[in-house]
Amino acid sequence: MEIFKKEVLAGLQKSHKTLSSKYFYDDEGSRIFQEIMDMPEYYLPAAEMEIIERHSQVIAQKIAGEELDIVELGAGDGRKISHFLKVLHPFVDHLTYFPLDISQGILEENTKLMAKEVRGIKIEAMWGDFFISLPKIRDRKTRRVLIFAGSNIGNFKRKEAEEFLQFIDQELKTGDNFILGVDLKKNPRKILAAYDDPHGITKRFNLNLLNRINKELGGDFELESFDHYGTYHPITGAAESFLVSLKDQKVRIGDEVILFQKDEVIQTEISQKFDLPLLMELSKNVEFRIDSIFSDSSSLFSWVLFRK
Ligand code: AVI
Repeated sequence: MEIFKKEVLAGLQKSHKTLSSKYFYDDEGSRIFQEIMDMPEYYLPAAEMEIIERHSQVIAQKIAGEELDIVELGAGDGRKISHFLKVLHPFVDHLTYFPLDISQGILEENTKLMAKEVRGIKIEAMWGDFFISLPKIRDRKTRRVLIFAGSNIGNFKRKEAEEFLQFIDQELKTGDNFILGVDLKKNPRKILAAYDDPHGITKRFNLNLLNRINKELGGDFELESFDHYGTYHPITGAAESFLVSLKDQKVRIGDEVILFQKDEVIQTEISQKFDLPLLMELSKNVEFRIDSIFSDSSSLFSWVLFRK
């Protein structure tokens, strides 16, 4: 709560106002994100699922061994990964799945589903921030594959993404693998439609953050006085989201007052899209290297398999 308040105020007191998209996901935000994932324009989940369906067998053969830990960061409900683990299981005698997630409720769903879908798999759920959970299992001798799917890395700023990859590097031993799900650069209109959707669901997703600040930090944002604006830059590959103040206004958050001019924006999210040069650039300071890249049939999304 305290960090939330500190970061919100610091972001809104900058000359270019920002709020971090990591705060989108309270219960309501997670529910709206589920609506986004069901939108026809939001192609990411279906493309990633197609990769799992098409390539799991080959990936399983590449990473198989007698003993293996699969550690999934930000595991969510496990629906997609269960298909991968089902294919992988026969290739590994002792397979342990570690789903790591910040939400206890979702972890319960995940383990229930996994126990049902992948009979006999050992599951060790870890609840909390994965930057804290993952180092706790560092001393295990078993070879491991870390997975960060869903293009969640796209929501990190450039420096955060590099630091994240360095963190992953520290948690991998020689011979371990890392699977990274990334959304690819593609026709800009397709990307823009996914993030500036005609149904206004992404607008609600963004506005919910203001509502969360109202509820949890004593804010008085008038949601109807803000609009959502989404952009995509085809050269940098950054899809960005903003909230636009529709009038000159004062907003209180606890004892603080934030002034907005008409048309002033708050930057709320970046969703970076990737290509090979960007992946090479981001991973130039880590010891793991790209082994193979698996994509869906329309080349929308990739699973990048790294090996240390
Ligand atoms: C969670 N993350 C990968 C989503 C994305 O595509 O960047 C969040 C999202 N924001 C707007 N729509 C979906």
